[in-house]
Amino acid sequence: MTQRQILVTSALPYANGHIHIGHLVEYVQTDIWVRFQKLRGHRCIYICADDTHGTAIMIRAQSEGISEEELLERMREAHIEDFARFEIEFDNYGSTNSPENRAVCEEIWAAIRKAGLVHEKEVTQLYDAQAGTFLADRFVKGTCPFCGLENQYGDSCDNGHTYSPADLKDPVSTLSGTTPEVRSATHLFIEIEQLHDFLAEWTQSGEHLQPEVANYLKGHFLHEPLRDWDISRPAPYFGFEIPDSPGNYWYVWFDAPIGYIGSTRQWCDRQGENFDDWWRSDKTEIHHFIGKDITYFHTLFWPAMLKTAGYSLPAKVHIHGFLTVDGEKMSKSKGTFIRAATYLAHLDPSYLRYYYASKLSPRVDDLDLNLEEFVAKVNADLVGNIVNLASRTAKFAHKTGLAETYPDDGGLFAQAAADGEQIAEAYDACDYNRAMRMILSAGDRANQFIDKAAPWLLNKDPEKERQLRDVCTIGLNLFRQLAVYLAPVLPRLARQTGELLGEPITCWDQSKTPLLGREVKPFEHMLTRVKPEQVQAMVDESREELAAPVPAAKWNDSDEALNAEPLAAEISFDDFVKVDLRVARITDAKDVPEAKKLLQLTLSFGGDVTRSVFAGIKGVYEPEALVGRLVICAANLAPRKMKFGVSEGMILASGTGGQEIYLIAPDAGAKPGQRVH
Ligand code: 2FM
Repeated sequence: MTQRQILVTSALPYANGHIHIGHLVEYVQTDIWVRFQKLRGHRCIYICADDTHGTAIMIRAQSEGISEEELLERMREAHIEDFARFEIEFDNYGSTNSPENRAVCEEIWAAIRKAGLVHEKEVTQLYDAQAGTFLADRFVKGTCPFCGLENQYGDSCDNGHTYSPADLKDPVSTLSGTTPEVRSATHLFIEIEQLHDFLAEWTQSGEHLQPEVANYLKGHFLHEPLRDWDISRPAPYFGFEIPDSPGNYWYVWFDAPIGYIGSTRQWCDRQGENFDDWWRSDKTEIHHFIGKDITYFHTLFWPAMLKTAGYSLPAKVHIHGFLTVDGEKMSKSKGTFIRAATYLAHLDPSYLRYYYASKLSPRVDDLDLNLEEFVAKVNADLVGNIVNLASRTAKFAHKTGLAETYPDDGGLFAQAAADGEQIAEAYDACDYNRAMRMILSAGDRANQFIDKAAPWLLNKDPEKERQLRDVCTIGLNLFRQLAVYLAPVLPRLARQTGELLGEPITCWDQSKTPLLGREVKPFEHMLTRVKPEQVQAMVDESREELAAPVPAAKWNDSDEALNAEPLAAEISFDDFVKVDLRVARITDAKDVPEAKKLLQLTLSFGGDVTRSVFAGIKGVYEPEALVGRLVICAANLAPRKMKFGVSEGMILASGTGGQEIYLIAPDAGAKPGQRVH
């Protein structure tokens, strides 16, 4: 087999939000593909970065009172941690706000200018006078000028129409809630129409895009002249200033895909690699994985930019659909908008990696995470089928070791080894669903063998030790084959298997030769069953996050509260630590009918430690809505006798009383009983 050289990317996540399970469809899909290619012995690198520019970052940094760079650093750390915990393994994780990226932007820009593709035009744009900024597409909502759909963003509507924000009907600024003004500024445009013939050829060649994507582009864009692309934004804007157009910045979608190249440049510099081998040579296949919402940028603008600047074009852009949960869009109020960190507080990442793999196909279809099916599938396929093979044989094999020669298994090992090529083809074609089905069938056959051979019975008869060893040798080798095939999806299981059998799983062809004549380490649990309660707790916690305070969208109203109530006199650190603040879960909340303001709450601190607390939040919070929420409690306050009972602590809230009460909640992942420092 000839070794391929492959550069793979996932869409760069925006630095203004946390990774959630919707994002993870793509990162898991890509990571599986990369791991698969590496396992097959190809030279493959996985490149990503934070997408850092644009108005959203600027506004958020202002609202939090920090610099953009500080915000970027914080989000970068959070993204990197989430990805690492989901075993998404990048070869380089860069930033579009890097010097490397700026240099590539300047180079590509110079080439685009030189090709005569740029012209200037006055643009009337929406301007939020209260916020003092032009409004990016995502900061305006209104009615689609084409189909009349209400409450749509400034760049496109849910029916797929694209337009400029100034064309939106009844626009409202999402920053201040005011009606924006129309103001005029000079913008730079790229005449992408000049590349129409090239793009028609490239998109319709049948080589680079899924057929439904090629048809979509033909029907929606390529049947008419391509509209000029507005590539600049006037100050204030967080991004790179355009060198030959002072006061104007590249629109975030210009430097975002260039981030693929900038991040590769970092990797090359670190590894001592020749950059041109990766981005300016036929040696390397470039594969982008993206969601369907950003098709336009990656299949028209991006190839146009690459072509103009003499860079390699993508071998393939792999486009996936959206995630739905239980058949609906992810919903904050239903608790199905689940952050990666919240998922991880309750569930094993392997479950989701496997579930997504079992659902992913090469088509652009949406993927539904059905929570009931998730539990059933993980338990039946992973625990009941795959891991069951190891758990039913490894403990006996630890006693007997593996046989010196591979026993007669009726052709099972040979059959699964032969399946390897078809499974590999399915992975390579992104048909993970088909790959998983083939792997599970092999697992079924192996489990039937173990059912019949019943090693647990052989183990009871000292005279059958040789037979027991043979059965376990077969069972564990069949299991190992599957662990090799599943290694791209379940890297941890592959590692555990390597440790159990004393030989790490590093290449696909290990599935062709059984391991023999060696000891087997003591068996340690590989994956436990998932319980519906864990899933429910994750959903509940995601719903709670919605109830938790969110940063204000406006950034100039924060000092009002401070003026009304100046800071208290200084206290010593020792005084401060006397207060034992703890995370607690509200397990019960009752109205106190005789009291005007009080609810009686039962708080759990984990284990059986509970407290009863009276809180003056009646009328602001409904008791039923509080049950399950996490709060912060001053837990060592002396009990206070009140008219209706004894209050054994105090929960933290901000506000001035009346209807102005805001409970303080910890971030996702906090556990009842944790001390607040
Ligand atoms: O849609 C998004 O979330 C963008 N941040 C994706 C950018 S992909 C690439 F072009 F950088």
